[in-house]
Amino acid sequence: MFFTGKVAIAADHGGYVLKEKIKKYLADKKIEFTDFGTDSEESCDYPDFAAPVCKGIVNGEYACGILICGTGIGMSMAANKYKGIRASHCTDTFSAKYTRLHNDSNVLCLGGRITGEGIALEIVDIYLNTPFEGGRHAVRISKFE
Ligand code: RB5
Repeated sequence: MFFTGKVAIAADHGGYVLKEKIKKYLADKKIEFTDFGTDSEESCDYPDFAAPVCKGIVNGEYACGILICGTGIGMSMAANKYKGIRASHCTDTFSAKYTRLHNDSNVLCLGGRITGEGIALEIVDIYLNTPFEGGRHAVRISKFE
């Protein structure tokens, strides 16, 4: 795994089922993680679950995060409000690879109602195993950070 350190993961009700599958994948790969909820498919508010993940990354407790809602869009909007968070909504492996290489993304957002388990686990695998390229991409990031 490229990221050293722990992964913070959370979902709302629309992402709960996929979150549980990703947790099993992380555990199988012996990747340390903290689950910040939610714990069921009962309706809840996605920003409440984006908050502890993003705060934990910004304060250095976690190397990166995975946030899942129904579409992945609400979670990415909420996460990108936090200074220092670069959240990427991915529905394909190419985006997962290049958002690490070029954007130094630190939060992966997925849609539990959009992306099936197979592709989601491939996206997570590529995301966690791809390093940032730096160089001209670091300059570009510094222009919006
Ligand atoms: C919940 O119904 C849904 O709005 C939420 O999971 C997410 O998709 C929001 O962007």
